[in-house]
Order: sequence, then C-alpha cells, then structure tokens
Amino acid sequence: MILIVDDDKAIRQSLALVLKRKGYETALAGNPDEALGMLRKHKFRLVIMDMNYSLSTTGEEGIHLLRQTKIFQPDTPVILITAWGSIELAVEGMRFGAFDFITKPWNNHLLLQRIETALSLSSPATDSDRNPADFDRCGLIGENPRVKELLKTVERIAPTDAPVLVLGENGTGKELIANAIHKNSRRKNAPFVMVNLGGISTSLFESEMFGHSKGAYTGAVSERKGRFELADKGTIFLDEIGDLTQDCQVKLLRVLQQHTFERLGESRTRKTDIRAICATNADLPAMVREHTFREDLFYRINLITLRIPPLRERRDDIPLLTRSFMESASRSHGIRCPEISHEALGYLSRLPYPGNVRQLRNMVERAVLMCAGGILEKCDFEADGNIQDVSATDLKGSLEGATLEDLEAAAIAEAVRKYDGNLSRVAAALGITRQSLYRKIEKHGIDIS
Ligand SMILES: Nc1ncnc2c1ncn2[C@@H]1O[C@H](COP(=O)(O)OP(=O)(O)OP(=O)(O)O)[C@@H](O)[C@H]1O
Ligand SMILES: [Mg+2]
Repeated sequence: MILIVDDDKAIRQSLALVLKRKGYETALAGNPDEALGMLRKHKFRLVIMDMNYSLSTTGEEGIHLLRQTKIFQPDTPVILITAWGSIELAVEGMRFGAFDFITKPWNNHLLLQRIETALSLSSPATDSDRNPADFDRCGLIGENPRVKELLKTVERIAPTDAPVLVLGENGTGKELIANAIHKNSRRKNAPFVMVNLGGISTSLFESEMFGHSKGAYTGAVSERKGRFELADKGTIFLDEIGDLTQDCQVKLLRVLQQHTFERLGESRTRKTDIRAICATNADLPAMVREHTFREDLFYRINLITLRIPPLRERRDDIPLLTRSFMESASRSHGIRCPEISHEALGYLSRLPYPGNVRQLRNMVERAVLMCAGGILEKCDFEADGNIQDVSATDLKGSLEGATLEDLEAAAIAEAVRKYDGNLSRVAAALGITRQSLYRKIEKHGIDIS
C-alpha cells in the first residue's frame, strides 16, 4: 500500500489513479494529522507527500510530517513533492532522510519510474532474485572484499533507473563501472552516451547537451541533436561532474529533474527518457559544504553512491589484474604471453599507484612489449622507473611514517625529475590526465621548475 499525502484533492485523486492503473493500492490523506493517524496503524511500502500544506508555505509542516514518518516507519521510503521554485525544501527533506523528490508539474512516466526505483531499492534483496550467471562483469576484475561488495551493489541497482554517482580517484575504473551498470540494465540495447563535462566550456555546454536549431548562433549551419536527445531510452554518463561551473550546474539540474529540455534557438520543450550516471574524482560532499557544488543537484544525482577504492587499498587484486593485463596486451599485439616472476609480482604489489589501475595497466603493457615473450622480472618494471617502490631505498628514510598523500607527492616529484619537468610525459607515465596532474602538483605544492 502506498500512502499519498496532499492537501489538494485533485492531486491526490490523479496520483491515486495513475498508481492504480499500474496495479498499486493506495491510501489517501489530506493533511499531516490524517497521515500520521494512518502511519500509526498501517505499514506502508512507500509514502508520497507534498511539502506545503494550507497553513503556511515554509514547508515546516512537510518537514515535520517527514520526520514523524521516519520515526514511525524508518524503512519506508518517502518521495517528496515540491514546486520547482521551492526545491530547497526538497533538499532539506533529503537531509532528513527522504528517499527522493519530484517537482510539480511532473510527468507520469517519470513519476512512475521514481516510484518503481524507490520500491525496488527498499525491498530487501533476496538471493532468489538474482542469478549470478545473468550478471555481466564487463571485464571488471577484482576479488578484494570491497570490490566484491561494490559489484554486488552494481548488480542490485543496475536494473533500476536510479541515478548513480561513482566516486573514485583517477584510473580506478569509474567508466568501467558506469558501463557495467548500463550493460546490466533494461536499457542495455539503447545508447550509452558519454560526456566529459571537464572538457566542455560553459559557452558550448547548452548546444552540446541540448542541441541547437539551424542558425541558433553564428556557425550553427545545420540543426544538431544534443547528448540528452541522443541518450533517449538509454544511459547518459556524465563524467567529471565536479568540474561543472555553477551556471551549467543549474542547467543540468533542470534536465535531470524534469527530463525535459529545449534545443538552443528553439522554444519547443522536448522530453527525454534517460538514466544518469555521474562520476568524479573530486570530493563532492566537500564541494557542497563549500557551496561550489549545488546541494540540490548533488541529491538529484546521488540516489546511489558507489565508491571505488584506490588500488593501494586493495593490493590483493594486483596479481590478478597484472595477469589479466599481460594476457590482453599480448593478445592485442599478437605476441606470446610472458611469464612473470614472483619477485616482480611482489614489487608491483608494493607500488603507491597515484594513477591506480590505469597506471598498473600501462606499466604492464609496456613491460610486455619490451620483454616480448620471456619472463617479466622486477627490473623490467624498475626500468619503467616512473614511480618508486614504496620501500625503495632513496625514499625510505624520508618516508618513514609517511601518509599516502606523502607517497603520492613523492611519486609525482620523482616522475617530474625523471622527465625533466615534461608534464605530458609525467602524466602519461603516472597514468593520469594532465588536468589531474596539475591539480595534484598544486595540491602538494610540487616544484616543477
Ligand atoms: N577492476 C578493473 N578490472 C580491469 N580493468 C580495470 C579495472 N579498473 C580499471 N581498469 C582499467 O583501468 C583503466 C582506467 O579505467 P577507467 O577509465 O574506467 O577509470 P576512471 O576512474 O574512469 O579514470 P579517470 O578518473 O582517469 O577518468 C582502463 O583501462 C580500465 O580498463
Ligand atoms: Mg574516466
């Protein structure tokens, strides 16, 4: 049974009708008191509640009702309804434990999607729901308990339309995870559209994301579909979302909230049916606290947050990853797969990896090419020389008791020295992007002169 709380009778009834058509049973309450009475007596699967009641427009009654609901039925998901203009109320509600929010006016398709997501994520997962053979790992390797836990979550949430935020350092596999979510979803046969928001300037953002009509601006010689239109029925992967300017954040919020947009130069509002997966290596919660990332957008994208551990925190996976990269590299270059010595594996297992899995992959691929078939020894990787073994002698003294941050700084400084300050080569050697290298150099105050 789903409880609908709204003081507007017309809204209550139309919601009830939409839900009934989909086979859900509903109960209706016209004010918070009535709702509380029902919440005391019955267990609901879901509560949909308006934030504003006739007494005031501050939303206090809505927040109060939400808190009471969470006391009586802590496990029942609550979806809030607010007007687009008072979205900050929804944000406050999310802080008090609401599951999701929709803004008026809504479209029924989107509303039903959100309801289904809430119901499927809040019902306990049973093993009988899952057939492990149906899950496609999409090349994701890892047996570390945290990675396994992560994959279990991916398997559970992939079939829903829940927006997912993937957090992790450079090269940890964020894109791979996003792809795995899409491939295991109902949308797998529709497009998976990737957008690197870090690479899109504010001025290009709208035409890139929403498209434009012919002549919308100088140079718009023909009409063009934007990424949100291309991703219709599929998944849109918004990478580097932490790099978005405030202006673009507002524009993105609207399309993610309402699933509607207009092409540049057109007034017609278009609909798109998308599932959004966002990723970043930035500390988004900290950015929200510092007001550089909008809190409403944050709640819109992070219904599910997946944190990928850095490679140095799952070193037990290094041998497995190494072997797999050795095989794939030899296959793609058409050479015989080499062996690897115990000592070399041990060496690889101790490196600091500021560039995470991508860095390991680059190192292994280079070594496979150089060695052409024999046995990979520790020296084949040392020759690579871009980073120092955690226990390497020249770092050892100074790094006694060092934090991971110190290790990262030391590895970068070492690579800068080795490549004479050629930052493109440093970035390539460490397996990180130049942008991210700049950020790290600035963060650690490394001298590159
Ligand atoms: N668990 C894994 N198993 C196999 N390969 C992996 C795994 N994680 C990452 N990789 C490989 O490491 C490389 C980097 O992965 P990916 O591009 O997904 O990382 P990312 O987190 O998106 O990086 P960035 O922050 O730089 O965008 C890719 O070549 C990917 O195939
Ligand atoms: Mg990426």
